[in-house]
Amino acid sequence: MRAVVALRVDEANPLSALELREGWPTPEPGPGQVLIRLAATTVNMHDLWTLRGVGVRRDAFPRILGCDIAGWDERGDEVIVTGCFGDVDAGGGDETFDPKRALVSEEMPGSFGEYTVVPARNVVPKPKWLTFHQAACINVSWASTYRLLFTRGNARPGERVLVQGAGGGVATAAAAMARAAGLYVIVASRFESKRRRALELGAHEAIPTGERLREPVDLVVDTVGAATWKHSLRSVRPGGRIVTAGATTGSDVPLELPRIFYPQVSVVGSTSASRADTLRMLRFMEAARLRPVIDSVYPLARIREAFERMQHPDLFGNVVVDVHA
Ligand SMILES: NC(=O)c1ccc[n+]([C@@H]2O[C@H](COP(=O)([O-])OP(=O)(O)OC[C@H]3O[C@@H](n4cnc5c(N)ncnc54)[C@H](OP(=O)(O)O)[C@@H]3O)[C@@H](O)[C@H]2O)c1
Repeated sequence: MRAVVALRVDEANPLSALELREGWPTPEPGPGQVLIRLAATTVNMHDLWTLRGVGVRRDAFPRILGCDIAGWDERGDEVIVTGCFGDVDAGGGDETFDPKRALVSEEMPGSFGEYTVVPARNVVPKPKWLTFHQAACINVSWASTYRLLFTRGNARPGERVLVQGAGGGVATAAAAMARAAGLYVIVASRFESKRRRALELGAHEAIPTGERLREPVDLVVDTVGAATWKHSLRSVRPGGRIVTAGATTGSDVPLELPRIFYPQVSVVGSTSASRADTLRMLRFMEAARLRPVIDSVYPLARIREAFERMQHPDLFGNVVVDVHA
């Protein structure tokens, strides 16, 4: 098959390790697995971390990365893949808590090729109201954001939420979902243009990154990490929650314990989404008529440009890769 192969860990120049190959072996499904023909996928920070050697053995290369899967199953039905491969029982009813759980591309081939294989349990029907390009944004950005907001963050109507960042897949999904769920949404961004777009997307307020809030919020969504953590700690009300789900600008942050225990703030982690989260989120998207924001679409052969776009300060929404274009 045709695939973009990650050849090695390259901390200094991670994208140079990606190469388009024809004739790469098509993966074969094992017991309980399904072969998926890819239509579209996205590029994500997770792939970049892997290329930089974070959380991966160097002898695990060459390999296929890519975490979002939208395509067709063996019967030709249109499907999406939920991205956490784990055992529900081992996770106490939630596969994302299985100590042995893996995300797409961690233990099995990822989505940067014409075919991949996944556990049958992770395949869900693609709703007709999502295009393949939109469906490619569902797992990493939308389902994970649904989980961090509602399952882990316990967001409730009438609460105030601060979303750190405006442009990424998580920030755009968080602003849209929180607004649709009846929260008061404040978005923080470095750029005036993105603050404007966040307001168009439904945010009630858009503030410059780091600016003091008029009133503290019940919930902070922080996937930016080092650059915004201090501000997140100062923006949450006593008894409020901070959900941390990413560290785009680095994970080395001062915890400032008195700012957590004295005001009784909960710091909650969130990763990926369960199948149940994904199915509930799709029903929410349909009911609220929410659709992913697509920044741009690239063919598989231009995947390095897709990653460059993902890191561009102008990014707004998801960068999709069309596997057949
Ligand atoms: N835990 C999970 O399940 C999960 C799921 C998906 C993603 N993630 C993680 O979440 C993070 C966000 O991913 P993403 O794909 O949404 O987008 P991304 O492209 O990594 O994030 C871009 C966001 O970070 C902000 N940002 C970047 N540099 C900044 C800086 N120096 N100062 C302040 N803000 C800065 C941007 O805000 P502005 O440009 O608007 O200022 C933008 O909103 C990644 O680290 C990813 O790995 C985790």
